[in-house]
Order: sequence, then C-alpha cells, then structure tokens
Amino acid sequence: MRWIRCGSALAVLGLASLMSSSSNAEPPQAEPFGTTADGVPVEIFTLRNSRGLTARVMTRGATLVSLQVPDRNGALADVVLGFDDLAGYEGDGNQYFGCTTGRVCNRIAGGKFTLGDREYTLAVNNGPNALHGGVKRSLDKVVWRARPLDVSNGQAVRFRYTSPDGEEGFPGEVQFSVTYTLTENNELRIDYRAVTNHTTPINLTNHSYFNLAGEGTPTVLNHELMLDADRYTPTDATLIPTGEIASVEGTPLDFRTPQVVGVRIAQLDDTPAQGYDHNYVLNGEAGRLRKVGWLKDPASGRVLTLHTDQPGVQLYSGNFLRGQAGKGGKPYPRRCALCLETQHYPDSVHHPHFPSILLQPGETYRHTTVFAFSAE
Ligand code: GLA
Repeated sequence: MRWIRCGSALAVLGLASLMSSSSNAEPPQAEPFGTTADGVPVEIFTLRNSRGLTARVMTRGATLVSLQVPDRNGALADVVLGFDDLAGYEGDGNQYFGCTTGRVCNRIAGGKFTLGDREYTLAVNNGPNALHGGVKRSLDKVVWRARPLDVSNGQAVRFRYTSPDGEEGFPGEVQFSVTYTLTENNELRIDYRAVTNHTTPINLTNHSYFNLAGEGTPTVLNHELMLDADRYTPTDATLIPTGEIASVEGTPLDFRTPQVVGVRIAQLDDTPAQGYDHNYVLNGEAGRLRKVGWLKDPASGRVLTLHTDQPGVQLYSGNFLRGQAGKGGKPYPRRCALCLETQHYPDSVHHPHFPSILLQPGETYRHTTVFAFSAE
C-alpha cells in the first residue's frame, strides 16, 4: 500500500513538473515599448517562471528593465533600477541602468589603444578616459534584434546586434549576441557571444543596479555582501588601474567574510571612487562558471548569488546616482543600489599582464553570468 501511495505521489510530482515545464514551453511574446528619438521601434519581452519570478528585457541596449523576485514571505519586489518607459532610458537620468555594456565596458585610459602599428582613438566621455563603449552607438544605446528561444529549463530571449567596422572607433565588424534565460531554479542567466572579422578588444557586462529591498528603497548600505576575491586592481585618480594587483587584506574592500556594505564605506568617501567602484580579481579559475559571491537584504531575506566565468567584477555602490526619478517617479539617491559588473579588468588593453580582452577572427568571445535568487 505504501509503495502504491509513494508511487502515485511520484507520478503526481512527475505530472506537476511536466505541467510546469509545459507552461514554460510557450515562448515569451514581443510587445511594443515605444520608439526611440531616432524613430526606431523598441520591443520588450516578459520572461516568467512558475515560482513567481519575472524578468522584462528590451531591445534597446539588450537591457534588463525589471526583475520581480519574492521575499521570504513570497511578496514580490522589483530589485533593479530603471524607468517606466523608453523616454526614461533615453533621458539624462539613465546611468547605464540594466543595459548590456560594451564593446568595452569600464575605462580605457586616454581613450586610445594600439593594435599592431595602428592607434585607435575613442570618444573620451569620463574625465580623460573612454567609458562603457562610447557615446552614441555603444551597445547600451543601440536597438538589438530579438528572438524568443525554445528552451527546456525556462524562458529565454536572444538579442543580436552587428556592430560595423569602426563603430565608436573600434576596429572590426563584430556580431554580438546576448541571451537572457529565466530558469525554473530562480536564476537569471546571461550568455554573451561575439565574433569579429578583425582583431578587436571586447569586454561585456550587464550594468544592473540591485536593491534587494526593491528599487526605490533609499539605500543599499544595509545589505550584506560577500565577494570571493583576495585581490583587486588599485587605480589612479581617474579610476584607471595602475597595473598593480593588490591584496584586499586590511582594506575596506575585503568582503571575503560577509560584511554590511555601509559599515566601512565612509573610509572611501574621500577617494576618487567616492565609495565602492573597484575591480576585484575573482578567486577561482576564470573561464569556468563558479560561485563568486552573494548579496543579501536582511529585512526581506532576498539573496542574490553571483556566478560568473569572468576574471573580475566591478563593485559599484551607486556613488554617482543623484536622486533622478526612476520607476513610478521614485527618486534614486546616491547609494540606493549597487552593481556587480562581472567582466575582465578595466583598461586591459594597456596592461599586458592582465587577462587579454583581444578577440581574433575565428575565435568566439564567451561570457556567462548567473544571478540566482533565493530568500531566507
Ligand atoms: C561604472 C563605473 C562607475 C560609473 C558607472 C556608471 O560602474 O565604474 O564609475 O561610471 O559605471 O555611472
């Protein structure tokens, strides 16, 4: 009798999981999300899983627009900063909210680099340096093509963009793809690929600003953070790495044991970063997807666990947010959210001892980052 009960319970479970996976077999549909100032229509997709998570992603900048995550009581909150409409994303208040950042995220010293005997000149848009891939046609600002994918473990959308040779000063025609997958395991997985027809630097990241209490909550300084990194890349006054790789030991950057984000941040107030804005050298083998840290909001119990195959992560504590109005008109003050930008080290093109960001014809750039959510 027991066996029969157990067997039928298993059968019910089996059926339930079949049903939940079949409910996800339906690929997400494109919906209109306005038209850019240049007249290009933008689409948005809503990815859902059967446990209540939703992620909205749009074709402008292959951007994560919202991410609804349950707390320990099952209450949902949107944990990423953003805007209600496209005009917000095209406006001055958008500091790379949720976008795909590149061709080369982070900084390139002096906005110049040399490949072989040729020097390439980029727009300088951050003090004396180039930041986040350019000014008009960086990957966060262009409109990508999109196609929902039929995947077995959740819902997915793949964005594609072909960047012409010379765009924003970078050599080579590069074909990019970024795939967002929301899985039944409460993971938002981002897979990046790029191929080129000319040697060119590539360093992509996602620039989501997280507040696990919900976007619009005034601070992220009460969150706990753990980062599995023994070392970081110290920078000069313009946030360009000096080339040194230093230990975090004894500094406010040490998150190897979990720390409340705000406890030591005042020690960084009078530095050029004005808080956390540092590249960590992640422990473990780059190229292999591994757990590298976590962020937790003790009040709601929401936890984000970070996995990546990248060698570094830029921890940015939203020091340059300035109270601009975001979703629902809520103000986004300084340090109301933080970014965990998994990537290669900044200014790698000028530091031969950093892992190379040069992509050669015939090679494929690959990067996977997973934001996994739970509640405790
Ligand atoms: C990155 C940089 C910061 C800042 C933000 C965008 O995280 O490291 O200094 O420029 O992007 O505002």
